[in-house]
Amino acid sequence: MSNGHAWVLGATGQIGRAAVRALAEDGWEVTAASRGGGRDGGWDAGVRTVALDRNEEGALGRALGDGCDVLVDMAAFDGAHARQLTGLAGRIGSAVVISSGAVYEDDRGRSFDTQASTDGFPRYPVPLPETQRTVAPGDATYGTRKVLLERELLAAGEELPVTLLRAGAVHGPYCRTPRELYVVKRLLDGRRRRVFAYGGESRFHPVHVSNAAELIRLAARRPGSRVLNAADPEAPTVAEIAS
Ligand SMILES: NC(=O)c1ccc[n+]([C@@H]2O[C@H](COP(=O)([O-])OP(=O)(O)OC[C@H]3O[C@@H](n4cnc5c(N)ncnc54)[C@H](OP(=O)(O)O)[C@@H]3O)[C@@H](O)[C@H]2O)c1
Repeated sequence: MSNGHAWVLGATGQIGRAAVRALAEDGWEVTAASRGGGRDGGWDAGVRTVALDRNEEGALGRALGDGCDVLVDMAAFDGAHARQLTGLAGRIGSAVVISSGAVYEDDRGRSFDTQASTDGFPRYPVPLPETQRTVAPGDATYGTRKVLLERELLAAGEELPVTLLRAGAVHGPYCRTPRELYVVKRLLDGRRRRVFAYGGESRFHPVHVSNAAELIRLAARRPGSRVLNAADPEAPTVAEIAS
């Protein structure tokens, strides 16, 4: 028996491909949406694909038709995207939306946005709980826009229960901008030395697409208004990742 209808927006990206597969395997009827409208060879044949640009006025609402039980959004970045989803609240049972660890600031107000300034590199507590303060919401940067997205979605409350997943550094197949390329390309070029800042001791907690997909699957099954960090069980250093 079907769990219901899951709509995945941003389905052909690295997280989306894994999320569609996980939801279909878990018994959801899945619609996979992206601008290109493509499909992944690993998806069940029953997965329906849709081509749409969510930034085109009215396109998402038209494509949603009668609606869905859960909408999973990989491509939401600002307040306008939040209002687009809350505006469809009557047709979406609940949502799971990908946010980012870039929302956090440390206790001295340092964040991803201050990294380039002297002593601007953030020093977060370890572990970093979801209650850690964030940058202020706004339109200025990727991080402030994600906070705005989060706040507007959470404000919908029971009208649209939303799970926000604050992802670490996403890794896995189909990554469009793989951070590992720096290491791999040097090796392919026959350059045997690794050059790392800070002796390779830095950490940016990763999350594999399969772990993100599993969190999406679990959140889809238990709708609620909440914020969760999304990260792998381990947080290797840059040198460990390279090895
Ligand atoms: N990469 C990281 O390390 C990282 C870290 C933290 C958080 N995140 C968050 O993760 C999310 C990105 O997930 P991802 O890495 O899986 O993405 P991705 O691999 O870049 O794929 C993006 C997906 O969204 C679709 N898409 C993009 N713009 C669209 C639009 N206007 N309308 C409809 N579909 C659209 C793309 O397909 P088409 O091109 O065919 O439209 C594709 O399916 C973002 O919310 C980002 O902030 C990423």
